[in-house]
Amino acid sequence: MNEKVLKLNTHDPNDEQLLEEVLEGLKKKQKELPCKLFYDKKGSELFDEISKLPEYYPTRTEIGIIKTNIEDISSHIGKNCLLVELGSGSSMKIRLLLNGLNELCAYVPLDISYNHLIETSSTLSRDFPDLRIIPLCVDYTKPFEFPDFDFSWEKIVIFYPGSTIGNFHPHYAKKFLAMIARRSGKGSGLLIGVDLKKEKEILENAYNDSKGVTAKFNLNMLHRLNSEVGSNFEINNWQHNAIYNEYEGRIEMHLISLTKQDVSLNGTRIHFEKDESIVTEYSYKYTLSEFENLIRDYFKVERAWVDDNNRFSLQYLSAL
Ligand code: AVI
Repeated sequence: MNEKVLKLNTHDPNDEQLLEEVLEGLKKKQKELPCKLFYDKKGSELFDEISKLPEYYPTRTEIGIIKTNIEDISSHIGKNCLLVELGSGSSMKIRLLLNGLNELCAYVPLDISYNHLIETSSTLSRDFPDLRIIPLCVDYTKPFEFPDFDFSWEKIVIFYPGSTIGNFHPHYAKKFLAMIARRSGKGSGLLIGVDLKKEKEILENAYNDSKGVTAKFNLNMLHRLNSEVGSNFEINNWQHNAIYNEYEGRIEMHLISLTKQDVSLNGTRIHFEKDESIVTEYSYKYTLSEFENLIRDYFKVERAWVDDNNRFSLQYLSAL
């Protein structure tokens, strides 16, 4: 692994832009906070815990799909590619993929959490000593340039697992995927996890787990704001709740104010009524055809692998 991990456009903890972004969201009628704020070190650890919960089916289902179809997936990816993972987090899924791929040119994990990126890249480079690993600390939702690589490759394949695409509003998801197709070039690949529509009960249980890990994950955002933008959220005054909005086809993660209260964010006061909520995340679910419609102007679906219970899909798309 390269000794240096390049930090591109991540948030500086003292960044005034972050405060501005937070205040902008909290001044809306339906107050909101950006879901990228989940992923500091603590939040990334909590997310790893979520992914092992019995109720949270996406991670283990996607892993099952990769294991069952690794040869087919590998033949779609092909040889001599630059494999770029968006939001690499913990390395579980990429390990399965790397074990099944041959003649990979390099692996480039991108993640906003610097510590997480360092830890997982170092353990990966121990376990895959011959693999070129180039970690980049970056907010990949914002435009950035790759550094100049001193090697060449046949095609770029972007790995975007976990159904993180569901955390974007469909309109923005479309724009984001258009940007990926344009940047990676015609014929490049996108191996993407997409969570599928299913019964409300299964979905709501996945985001309101019985051990309360998702609640901690959600509330951690307030801890983070208190330490990074100088707010004074009283954590005990807030409660996690996730609901499935069937009309919109999305899980909505809320933080509910348990009391009428004012919170100060670096001097700016925001008022909350009792039971008023802050939306911290949307997680959109798609049918296979809805997703195909979303991406059809930029990508062709070459293959969609689905588990036996039709809960989750992993799709190989090629850029048009
Ligand atoms: C990262 N993302 C795909 C997760 C999801 O399911 O939308 C985040 C998450 N939020 C609560 N639990 C998991």
